Amino acid sequence: MRIRVSNSDLNASKAELAICFAYHGAKAPEGIRDAKLKRELAAQIKAERFQGRRSDQLLWSSNGRFPARRFLILGLGKRSKSDDQTFRSAAARASRAATKLGAGSIALALPDGKKVDADELGRAVAEGLIHGNYHYDKYLTDADRRPPAVKSAELCGGAAKAALQRGVRRGEKTAGGVQLARDCVNEPPSSLTPTAMANIAKREAKRVGLSCRVLSKPELTKLGMKALLNVSRGSAAPPKVVHLVYKPKSKRGAKKIVLVGKGVTFDSGGLNLKPSSAMFTMKCDMGGSAAVLGAIVGLAELGCKHEVHAILGLVENMTGADSYKPGDILESYSGKTIEVGNTDAEGRLVLCDLLAWAAKTLKPDCMVDVATLTGAVVVALGTEASGLFTRHDEMRDGLLAGAAAAGEKWWPMPMYDEYLSLLQHGPADLHNIGGRWGGAITAALFLGEFVPRDMPWAHVDIAGPAFAESDTPERHDGGTGAGAAGLIRWLESY
Ligand code: BES
Ligand code: MN
Ligand code: ZN
Repeated sequence: MRIRVSNSDLNASKAELAICFAYHGAKAPEGIRDAKLKRELAAQIKAERFQGRRSDQLLWSSNGRFPARRFLILGLGKRSKSDDQTFRSAAARASRAATKLGAGSIALALPDGKKVDADELGRAVAEGLIHGNYHYDKYLTDADRRPPAVKSAELCGGAAKAALQRGVRRGEKTAGGVQLARDCVNEPPSSLTPTAMANIAKREAKRVGLSCRVLSKPELTKLGMKALLNVSRGSAAPPKVVHLVYKPKSKRGAKKIVLVGKGVTFDSGGLNLKPSSAMFTMKCDMGGSAAVLGAIVGLAELGCKHEVHAILGLVENMTGADSYKPGDILESYSGKTIEVGNTDAEGRLVLCDLLAWAAKTLKPDCMVDVATLTGAVVVALGTEASGLFTRHDEMRDGLLAGAAAAGEKWWPMPMYDEYLSLLQHGPADLHNIGGRWGGAITAALFLGEFVPRDMPWAHVDIAGPAFAESDTPERHDGGTGAGAAGLIRWLESY
């Protein structure tokens, strides 16, 4: 979608669909300067008893009275509760509604009030428009079932054109990273193998100028990533670890930050096989590595003052003649031994080697891992929110602020040391499952055993929002790219 910022008014727009927004209870939409159009729209709002709640929309045919044939008014909810996120989701509803109405070009009237920060508004609107327009249609051969995309959008922004423009350009780059993550998650699991995902990372790294190294089985074996390699034993698809690096232009004030992503390209559960209902969506189990890849690619385009490393742990968790087994005792990169209580708790086995390796060899200032790690976090927080686990207050504050700016829901979760004993029994240093209760917490505690205590580290469990099983007025079902935008916002202000 091409997004253009103008300072013209919606009354002059020749777009197939002209879109404007109205707050709850307002008599007229925001940002309409032309008196005649404003009167018309106010009359429609009154006649149709449009209330301006977030779910309200009103379609009006102008019958030749204005260049745009159709006008769509979308509700914004209460003015007092309005923020950037209001406009990000309103813009997503706008472009999604436009695709449903078959409009290839749209124009939007943006509010020009003094209270809105035009930079942030432009960014939120661009992100919303691009996300609402996203549809993974690669495998739809029937053109009739392929929703038409919005090709161009004009933002009628009044006086704040330059600031809006700046925000839009940043929003486009952020959204690009999120879309990349969505594409990876949506790709079917037999097509998106560890090798295929590594190739996507290589392609993107080349495109945006990141350095990229792919570690294959012989190198992983030499390094001693034994926990990770054990997960991959049941699979015919060889494991890969991808290491991407973004270097800032200047070293001054640059911190070294490591992002680690769980990249289980399909999680069958292994010998502790998942039931059919739980297995269907398990192509999303590489959502953490998709988020981390999307974040570093988006960041490379945005520019950042820090040195950022992204490490993707790519394996497939399958049943096979050589699968790892419940009761096995694994060695790990760190030297700690792990007893396998359940082969379906595989993500932590992949991440623990990468976290220990990154901490030791890269010596970063901080690390964040992102993973579709537990069903338990979905029980706790539902399908819209991610759990944020960290012992480091500054990281918690920074990451929550980043997620909020991106419009993602991240919620702080505890890491009670007392629960560590749930993992400390049996013949090995650690057991890989902690029992029935507090499963998201014991998973986070497990990972924490592989990170030096003095290293600022956070873990984001995105198992809830990574994959949407049903669609909403704002987005299609499928991969959401959860995590990518939050990381980008955090890194921008770190
Ligand atoms: N990939 C799953 C977690 C998951 C669940 C992701 C739902 C997305 C949606 C993970 O590998 C897993 O299977 N976890 C187990 C852990 C258990 C065996 C301790 C779980 O949550 O049931
Ligand atoms: Mn699993
Ligand atoms: Zn998994």
